Amino acid sequence: MSTSPLVEVHGLKKQFGPTIVLRGIDLVQGRGECVALIGPSGCGKSTFLRCLNQLETHDAGRVRISSLTLPAGETLPGGTLQQLRQTAGMVFQQFHLFPHRTALENVMEGPLQVLGTPLADATALAHGLLAKVGLSDRAHFRPSQLSGGQQQRVAIARALAMQPEILLLDEPTSALDPELREEVRDVLVRLGDEGMTMIVVTHDMDLARRLADRVLFFADGVVAESGSPEEMFTAAKTDRAREFLRRVRA
Ligand SMILES: Nc1ncnc2c1ncn2[C@@H]1O[C@H](COP(=O)(O)OP(=O)(O)OP(=O)(O)O)[C@@H](O)[C@H]1O
Ligand SMILES: [Mg+2]
Repeated sequence: MSTSPLVEVHGLKKQFGPTIVLRGIDLVQGRGECVALIGPSGCGKSTFLRCLNQLETHDAGRVRISSLTLPAGETLPGGTLQQLRQTAGMVFQQFHLFPHRTALENVMEGPLQVLGTPLADATALAHGLLAKVGLSDRAHFRPSQLSGGQQQRVAIARALAMQPEILLLDEPTSALDPELREEVRDVLVRLGDEGMTMIVVTHDMDLARRLADRVLFFADGVVAESGSPEEMFTAAKTDRAREFLRRVRA
């Protein structure tokens, strides 16, 4: 396996019309490393994540994920874009499951439709992934018959079914009642322990603390501070980060 970083971002910039959101983001991330992005609402965390799998195109800066280089200002051509989306799987706050399909069918969809996996193999893979996220007994339930925490675990299994090299998670626990957050945190922490590479945008400091090897604090369109969870949560150096952490804990 390659020892070069899985993700290399240098000087990523993004604006919407006159609004400059990201002024030059740098991130070098190794395989197996988990990074948490924290920071005030509207500071561009989701935008950054979305640039990494081209739900948005960045305006300037160098971005490489695995073997794919993302051009500034343009979307990759179809086949390569599909490869990027497969390499960098996305998990959203609102789950985005297919409502009329069962948990099993949601997980099988990508392998069947995109990867051309034979039905028997896709079924076996999906059962295995549902077991991994603790939902073997819910395989034939539709999203409306599942709790938020269960739906999010199906969404994680669905992302894993594409065998991504990295998972990008945008506030995976934010839509959940507090008592359902822990089951999603547990699944993500276990994936991290197994070596999955992840970038998680979160306001859930318990998740950041448990999952991340490194925490990046975004403010004013830059990475204003970064460090281990221990450093960030007990000894943040900048006033900005200290103030933010004080408020989110209050
Ligand atoms: N498609 C878009 N068009 C115009 N402006 C946008 C668009 N997407 C995001 N923005 C703006 O970019 C800024 C950053 O938004 P973003 O969603 O990345 O913030 P965030 O850090 O994820 O915030 P939150 O913590 O509330 O989710 C905001 O000012 C937002 O209004
Ligand atoms: Mg956001």
